[in-house]
Amino acid sequence: MMTSPKNVVVLGATGSIGTSTLDIIARHPDKFNVLAISGHSNVYKLAELAQKFKPKFVVISDSNKYSQLSDLIGNGSTVLAGAQELETICQLDAVDMVVAGIVGSAGMQPVLATVQAGKTLLLANKEALVLAGELVMKAAQDNNASIIPLDSEHNAIYQCLPDSYRCGITPKNLNKIILTASGGPFWNREVSTFAEISPDEACAHPNWDMGRKISVDSATLMNKGLEIIEAHWLFGLNEKDIDVHVHPQSIIHSMVCYKDGSVLAQLGEPDMRIPIANGLGMPERITSGANMLDLLQRDDLQFFAPDYIKFPCLALAKQAIKTGGTSMAILNAANEISVEAFLSNQISFTAIAKINAKIMTNATVSQVDNVAQLLQLDEEVRANARQMVKQYA
Ligand SMILES: NC(=O)c1ccc[n+]([C@@H]2O[C@H](COP(=O)([O-])OP(=O)(O)OC[C@H]3O[C@@H](n4cnc5c(N)ncnc54)[C@H](OP(=O)(O)O)[C@@H]3O)[C@@H](O)[C@H]2O)c1
Repeated sequence: MMTSPKNVVVLGATGSIGTSTLDIIARHPDKFNVLAISGHSNVYKLAELAQKFKPKFVVISDSNKYSQLSDLIGNGSTVLAGAQELETICQLDAVDMVVAGIVGSAGMQPVLATVQAGKTLLLANKEALVLAGELVMKAAQDNNASIIPLDSEHNAIYQCLPDSYRCGITPKNLNKIILTASGGPFWNREVSTFAEISPDEACAHPNWDMGRKISVDSATLMNKGLEIIEAHWLFGLNEKDIDVHVHPQSIIHSMVCYKDGSVLAQLGEPDMRIPIANGLGMPERITSGANMLDLLQRDDLQFFAPDYIKFPCLALAKQAIKTGGTSMAILNAANEISVEAFLSNQISFTAIAKINAKIMTNATVSQVDNVAQLLQLDEEVRANARQMVKQYA
């Protein structure tokens, strides 16, 4: 039976996740229609994508770039400008699914808008959950919205859970989950040299080709910390039920350990098109363009315990879950500012964890039940972190 193509919104279409998503969509014109795309600053790439995929709507979230983009796009698609329009495109009646590929907390409100409208959310933007996990999961439940994780580790866990599993519910018969971590580029580097690490070195990930913010997070292991928090919300687990194993080859993407002693794992080449194709195609398996894993060529799979002293950001994330309330949002905001400062050469690599830790220690943790409060908190923490950056500059 012929089914009509699914209407997809790709948020962050100009980024690494957006590019991988559109690469898969281009392979399946019979299955997907790109309804809307968004970008923030890269008008040339956005215009190029608009020409190729002919979406009905193109959103540029930085409204200062509206005229430049309109001139490039001409009459092809409707151009909308401003962060608010990201929410508009996620809630259009025609939308079947939204791929959340914006980096950082800027993606939080469109993610919330998507689940509030009861749409299927394909989530890469982990910061949205770290910042507003409770609100997002509750809105998804209240509006019967499905969340499919795209982060390779969480997608691996999702694939190892029963087909009927829905995110937000604590899985039955579980012992624990194991998130694998590549260890990033500095796993074996002498810690006494960490202060000399440059942004380009931190962004040169050994296995994955990603945007600069997540690449730095991978180098500090903050990325794994954010993923522990993401797993806490997605799978309804405490931090003690979420282990991290360093697996430098990035072939096993994560594992679920069941009570009976069975351990289920998902394996594949380190290529984000695999989890994204899983999310887009569900319940079908569709081609992704990724190479097939050849285990006969891989006799090198290793696992190590993480080093929480060398990589303090990992411990901060576990602490944030234990503390609860706004502590995860506080950690996320501090980290976005410290990473930005490192990437613009204002502070050293080691100052990232120091700033994050100090902000966590000084902050007052509370409970939050609405977006306005969260946004205010986010702004306040960012302002404090910017002040602290000056002390470490
Ligand atoms: N890349 C990966 O392999 C990977 C894997 C797992 C999870 N993730 C997660 O996926 C998300 C995206 O990562 P990425 O690596 O694709 O990042 P990226 O390559 O830096 O792309 C980020 C995207 O977000 C847009 N953006 C930036 N600032 C924005 C703002 N203030 N408002 C609205 N849009 C904004 C960018 O637009 P412009 O480029 O036009 O400025 C771009 O489209 C992150 O949360 C990351 O943790 C990524």
